[in-house]
Amino acid sequence: MRADELRQLYLKFFKEKNHAIIPSASLIPENDPTVLFTTAGMHPLVPFLLGQPHPKGKRLANCQKCIRTTDIDEVGDTGHLTFFEMLGNWSLGDYWKEEAIKWSFEFLTSKKWLGFDPEQLSVTVFAGDDEVPCDEESARIWKELGIPEERIFYLPREDNWWGPAGTTGPCGPCTEMFIRVEGVPLCGPDCKPGCSCGAYFEIWNDVFMEYNKQSDGSYTKLKQRNVDTGMGLERTIAMLQKKSTIYDTELFQPIMEKIKELARKDELTTEQVRLQRIIADHIKSAVMIMADDHRISPSNIEQGYIVRRLLRKSIHSADVLGIQPGFLKEIAEMVIGLYKDIYDEVERNRDFVIRCIEDEEAKFRKTLGKALKRFEKILKQNGTITGKDAFLLFTSFGLPLEMTRDLAEEHGIEINMDEFRKEFEHHREISRTATHGKFKGGLADHSEEITKLHSATHLLQEALRRVLGDEVRQMGSNITRERLRFDFTFSRKLTPEEIKQVEDLVNNAIQRDLAVKQEFMPLEKALESGALAFFKETYGDTVSVYSMGDFSREVCGGPHVEHTGVLGKFKIVKQKKIGAGIIRIKAILE
Ligand code: ALA
Repeated sequence: MRADELRQLYLKFFKEKNHAIIPSASLIPENDPTVLFTTAGMHPLVPFLLGQPHPKGKRLANCQKCIRTTDIDEVGDTGHLTFFEMLGNWSLGDYWKEEAIKWSFEFLTSKKWLGFDPEQLSVTVFAGDDEVPCDEESARIWKELGIPEERIFYLPREDNWWGPAGTTGPCGPCTEMFIRVEGVPLCGPDCKPGCSCGAYFEIWNDVFMEYNKQSDGSYTKLKQRNVDTGMGLERTIAMLQKKSTIYDTELFQPIMEKIKELARKDELTTEQVRLQRIIADHIKSAVMIMADDHRISPSNIEQGYIVRRLLRKSIHSADVLGIQPGFLKEIAEMVIGLYKDIYDEVERNRDFVIRCIEDEEAKFRKTLGKALKRFEKILKQNGTITGKDAFLLFTSFGLPLEMTRDLAEEHGIEINMDEFRKEFEHHREISRTATHGKFKGGLADHSEEITKLHSATHLLQEALRRVLGDEVRQMGSNITRERLRFDFTFSRKLTPEEIKQVEDLVNNAIQRDLAVKQEFMPLEKALESGALAFFKETYGDTVSVYSMGDFSREVCGGPHVEHTGVLGKFKIVKQKKIGAGIIRIKAILE
């Protein structure tokens, strides 16, 4: 079975079980300052897991593009990726464990669907702790389906609890499904699902979300019991094709072959294979991030920085393999070819991606020269390269640590990795504080401050259009608890008079205490009624429209305040031209 067949079969199966199929949301979360990327299919669904009705009903399924950078150091082994596709089905206060587990089992083992041998299947369930009891119910259901006790493993919270760590929001115990990989021996008597040796591949996770983690760390029950499942497309297809790594399927094989060909090698050593996998994974992720309609380009901040890191690490790895400069574009074209028919935006943004990738390779090769000169200078002056120096070369010149390490080794110097790590942690702490835990990988923050600024963003967009004209289009929005940031298309910066006019219009809308109303309707009707819709892909053909009195009307998932009067005083604090025809405004509520 091929990946495109698996995508179709999964959605067909859940359609037959009365699920509405929703499109993949963007890789860049809208109005959510807590994470850089969409890390799971449930991420864009948080408001609905919390109880807001979803326009498509209580049963949903999709194939979601995801990026996870937490596993970035694992990339190169047999099963970790930074970009992957997640097949997911959701119950929003509808079915519960019995149906979810039975359907997972049916889809995996029925000859009509995937046809895995049930003997290959092992599962894990939550073992229980002081706060939440052992998930006996899931274990019982698995047993009834014929999974024997010895293939049901009870694991603690760190393995069988889902809901990103350290943050608030919907979460709960989960049951995970593993396939025993043919041809890979168990690494020892204690080897079991979850072991990193590659003998078991986790392919699917059913999360039973009935808890809401509070900011004080305690758990309360959610308004409704939800099911959130995620099946890794790349891993499942590898298991169906009886491959022992995710790089051996058609989602990677042509790219892996190309890299080998460019390296002009017939056989690769284990270390070279690791680099080959890193290049394939990282270029794919970078391309998929850039190909999103938010048009992220390599930079030194936020998502752009991740793109830069991914590309630079690929370039360095390619250098080590002896690949000639200029290779990025060729691989990027292959990635575009793989996904353009599945995600329309990939073709739409093709030229942008290729341009960015060519620029970045040229730029890095230029700084690389400077970094090497600095490296020589430090070495000459101090006779060594310290962990701190390695960190400076990394942050100031974008020189990947591995490269500094290799260069130092050539001079018989060993970099003090602990010192590097300490500097890195210190730096990360600073940026964490600065960005409110953005790197922690958490859930949407629906605090009062964020909600207010989100509502103010709608008023701002409308005010900008009234003052500057209809050419104003939202290009991006990002909200922290302190401020909103809004990027839009416009050819020049605003004059002080225009800024004042925009502020006055927004403040007037606040003073009029407009009622905020949410309605659901077909997208066409929403557009006919004059609603603005820029990132409309999230909701498919039925959309949620928020209107604020007679002033603003926008397609948006919310949440919002109920009356604009609570917003306080709106003030623009900064504006900047951030690209050809794009202006960025930062504003606050006082
Ligand atoms: N959200 C769950 C996961 O990512 C399904 O594993």
